[in-house]
Amino acid sequence: MIIAPSVLTADLAALGSACDEAVAAGLNWLHLDVMDGNFVPNLTFGPPVIKQLRQHLGDEPIFDVHLMIENAETMFQDYIDAGCNHLSVHVEAVKHLHRLLHAIRDAGATVGVAINPATPVETVLEVLPDVDLVVIMSVNPGFGGQSFIPTVESKIRILRKAIDEQVAAGGRNVGIQVDGGVKAHNIDTIREWGATNAVVGSGLFNAAGSVADNLATLQQALNN
Ligand code: DX5
Ligand code: ZN
Repeated sequence: MIIAPSVLTADLAALGSACDEAVAAGLNWLHLDVMDGNFVPNLTFGPPVIKQLRQHLGDEPIFDVHLMIENAETMFQDYIDAGCNHLSVHVEAVKHLHRLLHAIRDAGATVGVAINPATPVETVLEVLPDVDLVVIMSVNPGFGGQSFIPTVESKIRILRKAIDEQVAAGGRNVGIQVDGGVKAHNIDTIREWGATNAVVGSGLFNAAGSVADNLATLQQALNN
């Protein structure tokens, strides 16, 4: 299970240091929550900040940018140019999803599609051959520190089965990222459901201990 720290609830006044702490703890898949104040009722950061983060951190860490924005079709190249390796776009925010997924991949990044809690998983089955990751939102997007929505279980299980069938037929393997409300008490359960990647924000940056301590607690939950 990849644990992907979301820096959304880290100290944004010291974002570079928060990322340094995550990388020092051994986390190299950084989940960057980009919000435009339109698709979600919050506004975070964009290409200029990400570009500085990339200069600060060097080429090693994977920048997984979660685009909670209305204009991913016109802005995706800016995120790649800023140093993002992976872009996830929301099925609810894109007019021509298949075309965008291929455009992002053709531009040299890996690509994911995200669905909100109320969006049926069937909406992404058509593009399973075209993505590297499906992001199952287990909170309503816009904020960190929210409670996990357990009804995503059936989506994850359906997706796990569909991806396994795709691979068995010689198709691409696709990761299942669960995003929102993941903590030590539920991370092993979502792994059992079929997830391969867990975004953790407040569980790493706002829990009692250091990021390293909180990571150890999550890893212990996975090893039990
Ligand atoms: C919410 C973001 C999530 C969130 C995760 O819109 O997409 O990545 O920051 O934070 P926690 O783990 O605190 O729910
Ligand atoms: Zn996210």
